[in-house]
Amino acid sequence: MAIPASLTKGLTLPVIAAPMFLVSGPDLVVECCNAGVIGTFPSLNQRTTEGYRDWLVEIKSRLKPDAAAFGVNHIVHPTNPRLMADMMVSVEHQVPLIITSLGAVRDVVDAVHGYGGVVFHDIANVRHARKAAESGVDGLILVANGAGGHAGIINPFALVNEVRSFFDGTIILSGCLSTGQDVAGALMMGADFAYMGTRFINTTEAEAPAAYKDMIIESGATDIVHTAAVSGIPANFMTKSLQANGIDPKVLPDHKLDMGDEAKAWKTVWSAGQGAGAVHDVVPTAELVDRLRSEYAQATEQFAKKVGVA
Ligand SMILES: Cc1cc2nc3c(=O)[nH]c(=O)nc-3n(C[C@H](O)[C@H](O)[C@H](O)COP(=O)(O)O)c2cc1C
Repeated sequence: MAIPASLTKGLTLPVIAAPMFLVSGPDLVVECCNAGVIGTFPSLNQRTTEGYRDWLVEIKSRLKPDAAAFGVNHIVHPTNPRLMADMMVSVEHQVPLIITSLGAVRDVVDAVHGYGGVVFHDIANVRHARKAAESGVDGLILVANGAGGHAGIINPFALVNEVRSFFDGTIILSGCLSTGQDVAGALMMGADFAYMGTRFINTTEAEAPAAYKDMIIESGATDIVHTAAVSGIPANFMTKSLQANGIDPKVLPDHKLDMGDEAKAWKTVWSAGQGAGAVHDVVPTAELVDRLRSEYAQATEQFAKKVGVA
């Protein structure tokens, strides 16, 4: 149970800014890494493998010598025709952290380990966690109830305890982590990293429209609905965004509505996690990371006082 040595360089807070479809791009990644947390993006945020390569070249050229590592998310599934080509580019550029979604495959893990990279795999239930652990991944991202995007439905305490009982690699907790206090809480529960998505949408550098960021500020946990109606797989979306598109969040079907392809659906209806209720502003990434660091320090100090060690 630890952070892999190759990911500790430049890291000033155990936070990964999670990869987000249509939201994370080079500006967000570079600002995260230069501020001391791990920045990531899905390779599919670029329309082509060549575009993906261009982003890697750009990101590497903009990172400061003491920047934290960066990561890329690959969808490991037959529905992703770019997997092989994108993976080859990741290997060529020796991407420090590869985040796999859907499939945890030994060949991918071996290819990344071959150049000294690290593989974290995201799971939303214990069965998938066991399968991924068997494929040799270095870490498991536990996507708990209330997370943005394709969220799980399991309580984070339950998920961490069950997975920790058979997995001694790195544990990354995902879902509703919005503050430095939340980061401290995740570590106290036994996680090694906090994985934060929704909080990073509301940064100046995130590639989301201003109205999307405003809607996050206006939303609380009860304004988030977990539904398969947008993407076919259950994910969390803002009810205000469904309503803005003429969809009644109270009568959602359990199948995908006709909203066009995946990119169109996510561009039309905006995803966020239940942690939106703790997001009150849009700030530059560097300022957000500074804030998270001081909240984290405050939380650990207050905890030490509470338990009588300070
Ligand atoms: C708009 C949006 C898009 C997302 N797209 C992806 C993605 O492409 N790949 C992925 O692995 N996770 C994706 N996620 C999930 C995040 O990586 C992460 O698990 C989640 O945002 C964490 O929960 P939080 O939003 O409550 O912090 C997405 C989340 C959001 C909000």
